Amino acid sequence: MKKILRNMLLAACLFSLPLSASAAAKDEAKDVNNLKWWQKTVVYEAYPNSFLDTVGNGIGDLNGITAKLDYLQKLGVGAIWLTPIYTSPMGDNGYDVADYCAINPLYGTMDDMENLIKEADKRGIKIVMDLVVNHTSEESQWFKESSSDKDSEFSDWYIWRDAAPDGKEPNNWGSIFGGSAWTWSEKRQQYYLHTFAPFQPDLNWENPKVRKAIYDVANFWLDKGVGGFRIDAVPYIKKPASFANGTIDKATGFAPIHNETANTPGILDYLHEFKQEVEEGKDIFTVGEANGVAADQLHQWVGKNGVFDMIFEFSHVNVKFADGEVWHKTKAWKLTELKQAIAASQANTASDGWYPIFFENHDQPRSVNNFLHEGADTVQGAKALGMLLMTLRGTPFLYQGEELGMSNVSWTSIKDFNDLSTHNQYKLALDNGHGHEGAIKIMQKHSRDNARTPMQWNTEAQAGFTTGKPWLAVNDNYMLVNAEAEAADPGSVLSWYHKLHALRKANPVLIAGDYQELLADNEAIFAYTRNDENTQAIVLINFTGDTVSYPKELVTDAKLLLSSCDGTKRGKLRPYEAVCWTKNISRRS
Ligand code: NOJ
Repeated sequence: MKKILRNMLLAACLFSLPLSASAAAKDEAKDVNNLKWWQKTVVYEAYPNSFLDTVGNGIGDLNGITAKLDYLQKLGVGAIWLTPIYTSPMGDNGYDVADYCAINPLYGTMDDMENLIKEADKRGIKIVMDLVVNHTSEESQWFKESSSDKDSEFSDWYIWRDAAPDGKEPNNWGSIFGGSAWTWSEKRQQYYLHTFAPFQPDLNWENPKVRKAIYDVANFWLDKGVGGFRIDAVPYIKKPASFANGTIDKATGFAPIHNETANTPGILDYLHEFKQEVEEGKDIFTVGEANGVAADQLHQWVGKNGVFDMIFEFSHVNVKFADGEVWHKTKAWKLTELKQAIAASQANTASDGWYPIFFENHDQPRSVNNFLHEGADTVQGAKALGMLLMTLRGTPFLYQGEELGMSNVSWTSIKDFNDLSTHNQYKLALDNGHGHEGAIKIMQKHSRDNARTPMQWNTEAQAGFTTGKPWLAVNDNYMLVNAEAEAADPGSVLSWYHKLHALRKANPVLIAGDYQELLADNEAIFAYTRNDENTQAIVLINFTGDTVSYPKELVTDAKLLLSSCDGTKRGKLRPYEAVCWTKNISRRS
């Protein structure tokens, strides 16, 4: 009886309903021909510092990216998101911009940039810029003038406040990188606000001149032919009117600014203006980094009446946190939590809006460490994650090295780490009694440097990344994990990504089809279908190191399109096996 009931339920999941008028309208969205270019492609995030150094100074550069365009084209990449390449003192590796319209000489020249845009274009690839608009560097001319003279035309381009009556900070907010969110300016005799480091003063978006300056910057790059923008730290641009004290987190002694300012009501008004001034009428895409926007708020941010084409929301990468996003309080998590987070984002963009799929970026640890159990087979595990990345509904954002299965570092000295937030977190971990061993373990798991080690191109010195001394050490595993060796190995992670690209190309249902979750309560298998009018794709991914079973009926009459293991059987998945089946469903509609 139980079995019959289960089969009836499965059948209900797998069969399309007859077409009603509204379903017919909805099905338009399932036709790949109705999608925009950026919905059909793969976006590759390049972290220029670590991509490829062509001059031997140990730092990657723009010409290094140009040199690898064919490599990226082969992966099916249609857009490259460059993390900031503007002039910068590099306190936060470019997220502290001194001049938005000039190229950082470490990375090359404006000619190199124009050449990159042109060469990428020839291969059908767009360059996407990182717009860091919540803050600038303290080296920005805007800030220099604002901080030196209250009467300057830039006076209220930043957020200035007088000291509290006791001479201390205006309130108890703590910055995301550690310490108070306020820094005293001797020259101006006032405090300025910074959501991140003291050298990253927040711009005052209340000031229309600031907003206009940002739109001008965006349009400057659009005139150069870029294909869109990733907008950095965008939920913080609007501050609440009151600047009241918040609730203090015991570990830091401050009220986290994230809790006080992220997604403040009124922010969308600014962003509608941004859309109007920057995007309207242009065939580009925008993707906001929107930590603090919940899945059920997605519809306000993306979709027909939204402000961006996509936003990164972080609920799925945050399942590991025990308490909000407090980085030192992590927990063991269950697959169902990850599935629920992803299902919520899929559901909230199902009928309106679009969603970027990502498991890595330059701020996250490597996905094979972050989403697999300790000791997992990282090659098979990377393939499992790759299947998920490339077959969920949305635009896959692939981070450099993810296509190779690059993994976290195991450095034991804090001196090996470069990232400023890692250093702050290490110190805080010591202050909170973790001791060196405990603190360094947290860094190995959590540090942003895990994702920032140089790309592993081949088995030469420094993994072929540079002929000089790399700015950050190369991961020790480069003799095994590198692009050249993997290109020659049909069983490698890189070859798997080539297969996934071919799979998407040959099966538009994986791009445009709707998403229906299967086996929602299963703690071992991530399973779902993608459906258009005629075709159903069935994706099943084993997230464990054991062989597991699922109801065979899910793939009755289905044809196997791709599997990460040989000899795939209906109803069984070997450790980390990832499979994609397909069946024709046209007769049922
Ligand atoms: C988010 C960026 O991804 C991160 O790398 C940076 O440190 C902060 N925003 C500040 O710009």
